[in-house]
Amino acid sequence: MKYQSIAVAVATLASSVSAFPTLADQVLQGGSLEETAARMMAKRQGGSGIPDNTKTFDPKTQYVSTSGVHAYKAPTEDDQRGPCPGLNAMANHGYLPHNGVGNHLQFIQGTYEVFGMAPDLSGFLTVLGATIDGDGLSWSIGGPSKALDPITIGGLLGQPQGISGSHNKYESDVSPGRGDLYQAGDDFTLQMDRYQALYDMGIANNDEITLAILSKHRSNLFDQSIAKNPYFFNGPFTGVLVQPAAYSFIYRFMSNKSAEHPAGKLNTEILNSFFGVKKNADGSLTKLPGQERIPENWYKRAVGDEYSIPYLNTDTVLAATQYPKFLDVGGNTGKVNTFAGLDLDNLTGGVYNTKNLLEGDNLACFASQFAQQVAPDLIRCSSVLGDITSALTGLNSQIATSFASLSCPKLTKPLSGQFTKFPGYSNLNCKTGQYK
Ligand code: HEM
Ligand SMILES: *[C@@H]1O[C@H](CO)[C@@H](O)[C@H](O)[C@H]1NC(C)=O
Ligand SMILES: *[C@@H]1O[C@H](CO)[C@@H](O)[C@H](O)[C@H]1NC(C)=O
Repeated sequence: MKYQSIAVAVATLASSVSAFPTLADQVLQGGSLEETAARMMAKRQGGSGIPDNTKTFDPKTQYVSTSGVHAYKAPTEDDQRGPCPGLNAMANHGYLPHNGVGNHLQFIQGTYEVFGMAPDLSGFLTVLGATIDGDGLSWSIGGPSKALDPITIGGLLGQPQGISGSHNKYESDVSPGRGDLYQAGDDFTLQMDRYQALYDMGIANNDEITLAILSKHRSNLFDQSIAKNPYFFNGPFTGVLVQPAAYSFIYRFMSNKSAEHPAGKLNTEILNSFFGVKKNADGSLTKLPGQERIPENWYKRAVGDEYSIPYLNTDTVLAATQYPKFLDVGGNTGKVNTFAGLDLDNLTGGVYNTKNLLEGDNLACFASQFAQQVAPDLIRCSSVLGDITSALTGLNSQIATSFASLSCPKLTKPLSGQFTKFPGYSNLNCKTGQYK
């Protein structure tokens, strides 16, 4: 699997090696996606380009407690749980408030403590969450919560919907485990056919789930959405950055780190635990909704090896190198198999195109610039905040901080929408996050 995937990637690149020499260079050196990404990151940090295999595993700082205050406690009916297994598991173990509603500091600290997420990434994710799905300061990891009573935040017109109600704003189609909203009727329930497909690929690979397997799973589901979901929409932020994160997070965060496998090894038992799935005596799987658990005796990313925005950019670019369709912004136009892609050049006034999106930090730049630019519309449409200006100031300053280490091209004119022909985009009630 791992060699085949690189061979395909190299073949994809062969015709355009000179267009992005750094990436091609790295990929042509061979090895697994994990090794290639590590080499690219090392190079970025001014290193020799050789992966730091000496990164020492330290059981003391990497062990994640699942006892005492962090013992597993199932959610009650009033507790919010949603589409994100990482956040659900954190809330079940007291690394986030058990009710599933948290503030920025709680999300930044919690994702660092449990998973080793770098603060540039968690800061961006939480501020965006609170801006479009919450009250600006806090947000729900599931649906609307009593803990975010709109009256308490002053002069309000609506109720924050949480990330479960954020389809096309935060939540995307082609999730590894959750269904497409239009097809499944909700975007937060684990769909066992999807999960089983990923599980089976892991079992077939000596019970090991790799980035290559996750990309293959994503490719299969991407094709399935085109073939089965007339409302499939692959948005410039949700499709280009959130969707790949949902896949790479599975390996980067859920894998168990050890001295033998400092970058992590992910087997199906660990996957089941984090996704709240039980293996029965006969080998079949049963989901236990809301029961996502951090496995016992499990180790997170090493201190100093946090997963950051540049790292996510690298994994996302490598995945798109092998499967260029991942960067197709667009959707089905109301019938299955009618996928129409938008011209990135046109969308961005000539700043980005499908080739240069794979260069440098461009991919993360493009997606975040888009999220930033549509934020005023999303806030207005959510109607949850009296004061759009202050919410935007917070978001803009967080994006400036989080993306400070990236070199992003300047946009010369506003990004254009052009999404109205996609019913998956235009038939969504933006206040409730449901289809009309
Ligand atoms: C503040 C931090 C985070 C935010 C705001 C966030 C938000 C989200 C959102 C909105 C989704 C739905 C995306 C989709 O439609 O596919 C999602 C899915 C997902 N998230 Fe998170 N997340 C965060 C941290 C994490 C962490 C630390 C993990 C660790 C493993 C994680 C793992 C996942 C996975 C695997 C999915 C896909 C689930 C599935 O399709 O079954 N996330 N997250
Ligand atoms: C993680 O790896 C360590 C070292 O190999 C092992 O002792 C531990 O049981 C593993 N944890 C899980 C949850 O598999
Ligand atoms: C972009 O596409 C729109 C809609 O198809 C078209 O009207 C416009 O002329 C295009 N702009 C450029 C710069 O190609």
